[in-house]
Amino acid sequence: MRKKLVAGNWKMHGSLAANLRLLEAVTAAVKAAPRDFAGARCAVCVPFPYLQQAQAALAGTEIALGAQNLSEHDAGAYTGEVAGAMLRDFGCRYVIVGHSERRTHYGERDAQVAAKFQAAQRAGLIPILCVGETLAERDQAETEAVVGRQLGAVLAAAGVQSLRDAVVAYEPVWAIGTGRTATPAQAQTVHEFLRAAVAKQDPDTAARLTILYGGSVKPANADELFAMPDVDGGLIGGASLVAEDFISICKAAAGR
Ligand code: 13P
Repeated sequence: MRKKLVAGNWKMHGSLAANLRLLEAVTAAVKAAPRDFAGARCAVCVPFPYLQQAQAALAGTEIALGAQNLSEHDAGAYTGEVAGAMLRDFGCRYVIVGHSERRTHYGERDAQVAAKFQAAQRAGLIPILCVGETLAERDQAETEAVVGRQLGAVLAAAGVQSLRDAVVAYEPVWAIGTGRTATPAQAQTVHEFLRAAVAKQDPDTAARLTILYGGSVKPANADELFAMPDVDGGLIGGASLVAEDFISICKAAAGR
């Protein structure tokens, strides 16, 4: 049985004061009723400047820390970049790679995403590899071709075994921040396709692989999405900034 994972992606939101309120509310809920959360893994992926704040706030809880991006290089003259080892220094367990916002706004291509995925693993981080199609691609029935290509770039560069210590997140671009969620059936179809693509190379790795759904996950739709056999949790944007929504999504993943 794969244990579900809920990861909050704060994106470029927050302040010291707002983060404190959010993290205090989330950690207080977990401490008050740990059993409600025990059935799932939870994580928050915060902006770089707040890693130390979040690390301190999450200390002693089961909520893991993550970042939203990293350099494909391990160290060197790369002004403005952040290395995987630096994220480890602040207690990160996860790092998101290849989010559609990075692909769209910062020109990240499949090869660079694959290099970031490998850099994350070299540093001992668990990459959360994002894949997903645009609305135009879905309308042209290219969903499987697109997510297959995005996943395939990582498989080709890092090998199927690399997915033993990784997470994949299916995030249809048209569902991100739009309030338009994929239906549970739409998500399941793509998750099943992704798992099958991995299974062609290694059935055991495929069976263990955590595949998250992301795109307008809210307390109101989390249960039905998480009930799908190949949906192993969620990557949560907007709702991860609202303590009670994030708490309720974590509980949904934990089966509470
Ligand atoms: P929303 O939950 O705000 O749609 O964002 C999804 C996302 O991009 C998570 O990485």
